[in-house]
Amino acid sequence: MPNAVILGTGRAVPARTVSNDEFASVMDTSDDWIRTRTGIRERHWISPGETGVDLALTATRQALEMASLGAEQLDAIIYATITPDHFLPGNGVYLQHHLGLGPIPAFDIRLQCAGFVYALAMADTFVRSGAYRRILVVAQEIQSTRMDVSTKGRHTAVIFADGAGAVVVGASDDPGRGILTFDLHSDGGYADKLWVEEPGAILNPTISAERYAEGRYFLQMDGKEVFRHAVQRMPESVRTCLGRIDAKPADLALLIPHQANLRISEMVQKELGLRDEQVYNNIERFGNTTSATIPIALDECVRAGRLAAGDLVGFTAFGSGFVWGSVLLRW
Ligand code: UT7
Repeated sequence: MPNAVILGTGRAVPARTVSNDEFASVMDTSDDWIRTRTGIRERHWISPGETGVDLALTATRQALEMASLGAEQLDAIIYATITPDHFLPGNGVYLQHHLGLGPIPAFDIRLQCAGFVYALAMADTFVRSGAYRRILVVAQEIQSTRMDVSTKGRHTAVIFADGAGAVVVGASDDPGRGILTFDLHSDGGYADKLWVEEPGAILNPTISAERYAEGRYFLQMDGKEVFRHAVQRMPESVRTCLGRIDAKPADLALLIPHQANLRISEMVQKELGLRDEQVYNNIERFGNTTSATIPIALDECVRAGRLAAGDLVGFTAFGSGFVWGSVLLRW
């Protein structure tokens, strides 16, 4: 049975940078509040004309280059996003087309902030089963266009952002490398704690001016409730994975937690008893790009030479659903 290894990584964010002060000029907030409550200094938002698939394409090309592979060598695409460019079809087929690929399968998955972790687990399973040998995993979001950029929406608008991360996962016969284990969960009992209620297929018309005016098309979040569950579930899931391979938190060379809020990451770190150098955060510069936070951070770490062969690396995420999970791999 082959192991699934990460052969290449890439990332892309829109050119436009949005500072905290920019929000302070249009709503009742401040750079100080945003930095102390979330850790965010700036984030990237798209400009008119930019698409999510464009971001995914840039990240993919970088990942393929690092892997020394041509796009035509891919056997499948797994594309995680909750913010597709169109209601349907999903972004996966657009990426397949723009890459000029043959009719390979393109899976679209929507697992919110845990999208990348779920996608990686799927890629691992496909590779191990022998179904596909090289899989492109992409996580990409455009959150900016669904934010209420007024004081009413200030607890979400300042947090969420746009970006894409990609990894190429490939089969390897080296038993010392690759994805070791994963742990995935969901609990829909909390669905309305972080959701976009509309548009929905059960509505007729799907979009109405009246309901738009009520703000139902904006992301709505019970921040405190999400926070409370996130700081419990992520460490719990990391421990589950570590337990399965008979390892301890101290064995982790690097943990990349989903970048939801710097305070959440710090609490996850504390709960696991990790040192600063074992945890990577970049929310300060990117905000919360939902499914894309982990692959963007991973690409930064890889390109900065932060990972060495044999390092034990962990990813953990929690988000709307609730959904959560972790992946452990040997770099
Ligand atoms: O990606 C996974 C999903 N998302 C998350 O994991 C996010 C989890 N939650 C959070 O990160 C935090 O709950 C927030 C950052 C969203 C909010 O921080 P908080 O410390 O929980 O603040 P809060 O919601 O209790 O609000 C405290 C005060 C409130 O004012 P009052 O009611 O005390 O007068 C808010 O209205 O802060 C106010 N507030 C703001 N003030 C200035 C909320 N957003 C802002 C803002 N600027 N942007």
